[in-house]
Amino acid sequence: MEEVEVAEEERDHWSGRLPFILAAMGSAIGLGNVWRFPYIAYENGGGAFLIPYFIALLTTGIPLMALEFGLGYKFLSGAPKAFSMVDRRLAWVGWLSIFLGFLILSFYTVIMAWALIYMFFSFDSSWGSTPHEIEGFFFNDFLNISSGPTVIGGFQPMIFVGLIVIWICIYLILNKGVQRVGKVVLITVPLPIILLIILFIRGITLPGAMDGIEYYLTPDSSKLGDANVWLAAYGQIFFTLSLAQGVMIAYASYLPKKSEIMNNATIISLANCGTSFFAGLVVFSILGFVQHETGQPIGSGASGPHLAFITYPIAISQMGGASALFGVIFFLMLLTLGIDSAFSMVEALTAGLEDLGWEHEKAVRFFVIIGLSIGLLFVTSVSFWLIHLIDHFAVGIGIVIVGLIEVLVIGYVMKPEELREFINEHSEVKIGYWWDAMIRYVTPIILIFIIVWTLKDGFEFTGESVPNNVVEYPPWLVFAGGYGLIFVLVIAALYMQRRFTEWH
Ligand code: TRP
Repeated sequence: MEEVEVAEEERDHWSGRLPFILAAMGSAIGLGNVWRFPYIAYENGGGAFLIPYFIALLTTGIPLMALEFGLGYKFLSGAPKAFSMVDRRLAWVGWLSIFLGFLILSFYTVIMAWALIYMFFSFDSSWGSTPHEIEGFFFNDFLNISSGPTVIGGFQPMIFVGLIVIWICIYLILNKGVQRVGKVVLITVPLPIILLIILFIRGITLPGAMDGIEYYLTPDSSKLGDANVWLAAYGQIFFTLSLAQGVMIAYASYLPKKSEIMNNATIISLANCGTSFFAGLVVFSILGFVQHETGQPIGSGASGPHLAFITYPIAISQMGGASALFGVIFFLMLLTLGIDSAFSMVEALTAGLEDLGWEHEKAVRFFVIIGLSIGLLFVTSVSFWLIHLIDHFAVGIGIVIVGLIEVLVIGYVMKPEELREFINEHSEVKIGYWWDAMIRYVTPIILIFIIVWTLKDGFEFTGESVPNNVVEYPPWLVFAGGYGLIFVLVIAALYMQRRFTEWH
């Protein structure tokens, strides 16, 4: 007990409730809300998808957010040490979750670098004017994409410069501890939301917008009987709430005395999911407009790189007046959305090392250098292919597996009632037995079902198609880049557990 009190005195902490809420909200609200949610919703039943999504939010999202807050706050430590305090043999669960997050971060920052450069491109529409030109510009001129996933191709210096800028920002935001983070999020959380509202107003006043929105929200209730739809809902909830990656545990470990947990967890989760829904209106009004102007079908340009770097520039090219302004607004929104998700992940890592006695600034420097070095892999002509592959495994299944391990540990090793009591001591609204039931039975059963179902289908990776080039990924690459990488993360986590035992 004494140990914990000492840690509390020395530990850096948020200066109040607002900075903490904003920082956690900023971590959750990211690129995933703008391009992943609308597309996943549309593919999985449109308006009807909101039902499984909402159920996933209530049964897993909010309970797990409270769990991670409780864990970080109770042990005043990052994920590895927190799990180690639950059981000394379990530090690897914490290491695994932060390593997984770091893997996601390594390409997330690259997409942010693309957005940064595209923001400058918006000034003079460097991408050209016809849909055909805009698409060619992204793949050929900008990415200089190689002919397939096994061809490395050249190095893209411009993207590397963008990536360095992103990592320097992360360094400058984090190096002085969470007090500075608390100030930065006063801007980086509201700003993208304001920009999103501006885009909403512009979006719904464009011709064709209503067709897009109708497309997005028309419920296809036949989808509710499809297990894949439920799977998509749970996967998205983990990803969008930044759960199972050590982020929320680390952030909660900086809570000052007498903080609140349950209301915060609820507010943050609802704000995040509300933003996703709202972003869907913006995105689909723009897709409706593009269809209206160019005849490009709404569904074809909806996701990932296509949405942000092809479809949106096409929309801008059709807007006429003030198009440069809407380009800058859009890419600035992506950047400010992404930055707080990105630095929250670095904070999860540094919290892990600080618990081993590292100085904060040194830990930040260390991860910025490593992150930038891994990022080098993603600034070559092969990056587009690799990002797609790694995203498919890390986000598609990695996160869900780590989430499952996490609830099993709390449900069966620590026992949820122990954590619930702690959470209730620090909550205005108390949680009841239902919470234990979610952590112990409902969430694990659903997650096991999801994982088995997916693996049974072979967790197929269908590759990525770019214009005039449908590419096959050789099986060895899918195996190495998918399961191989997850395996490496597990080994690294076990190594860390063996190597560092000083918490006991
Ligand atoms: N929650 C973020 C979003 O919706 C995504 C995210 C989850 C993330 N985990 C991450 C980003 C780890 C970077 C690193 O966009």
